[in-house]
Amino acid sequence: MKAQPRLRIAVQKSGRLNNDSIDLLIRCGLKIRATKNALFCHGENLPIDVLLVRDDDIPSLVVDGVCDLGIVGENVLLEQAIIYQQDNAQSNFAVIKKLGFSQCRLAIALPQAQLFDGPDSLTGLRIATTYPNLLREYLMRNQVKAKIVTISGSVEIAPRLDMADAICDLVATGRTLEEHNLKEVDQVVTSQAVLIKSLKTLTENVPSKKNDILELLLRRIGGVLKAQESKYIMFHAPKASLPMIKEFLPGSEMPTIMALDGIEDKVAVHVVSSEGVFWITLEKLKQAGASSILVLPIEKMLS
Ligand code: PRP
Ligand code: ZN
Repeated sequence: MKAQPRLRIAVQKSGRLNNDSIDLLIRCGLKIRATKNALFCHGENLPIDVLLVRDDDIPSLVVDGVCDLGIVGENVLLEQAIIYQQDNAQSNFAVIKKLGFSQCRLAIALPQAQLFDGPDSLTGLRIATTYPNLLREYLMRNQVKAKIVTISGSVEIAPRLDMADAICDLVATGRTLEEHNLKEVDQVVTSQAVLIKSLKTLTENVPSKKNDILELLLRRIGGVLKAQESKYIMFHAPKASLPMIKEFLPGSEMPTIMALDGIEDKVAVHVVSSEGVFWITLEKLKQAGASSILVLPIEKMLS
């Protein structure tokens, strides 16, 4: 009998993307035995296997069809997509979904004391980066002549070592810059994790077993992402305030309204809000007469 096809998904081995990527797959119901140092994790309950690699290697693994899918930062993709365009090669991958996690930006940073008065201030400076293509594009876009110093890591220490006057690196919380007395002065691109697929192994519009597995995974990812933003809200409210309350809860469809034993003018309301619930929303609810307000996370959602 022919072996059943399996999907292979490339995920970052360690770093910013790793935890959230694995977490997403587990939330999708995939059981993998996470053994330390293992490169390959066999999916035990779904025909999906995980390959743990360096994030920079993910696009080429997917382009070459070694992996069917990959979870990678747009930053890596953009940096390398520019290479593909230059080589004039047919890009063999497609971005199928933005995943919302690992949000960061590629930014230009200068020593705290240095003045910045727009991109022109970078003229003649040496800028250290691991993203030479995106930096080159930024400099061209702003018609600035500066020297790109391509290094392979620890970009933030380059100014202190006098290897560069400025840097172009990823910033998430800004902590790394602060620790190195640098300040963010301009943004090159923003980035988040995305799911990419190989157009070599997952041909579009051609039904296949692999495409079926992808469909299933995408449905579950959609459910996980939706559940993450959604909250289940329960409260008591005066009947008269219900129309007003509905306006405070955007994205909440078809609330369940239940009678409260022995209380005529109040009801219990249960509602799913799809837009995240903030303190300010709860305070508005309270002002409108709601009480006993409970906000619960939703684990799974399928509609
Ligand atoms: C980036 C970047 C900084 C840090 C910034 O590295 O190079 O070191 O994150 O984050 P912060 O603003 O929250 O301090 P990353 O972990 O993405 O590794 P990589 O660039 O080697 O892939
Ligand atoms: Zn990296």
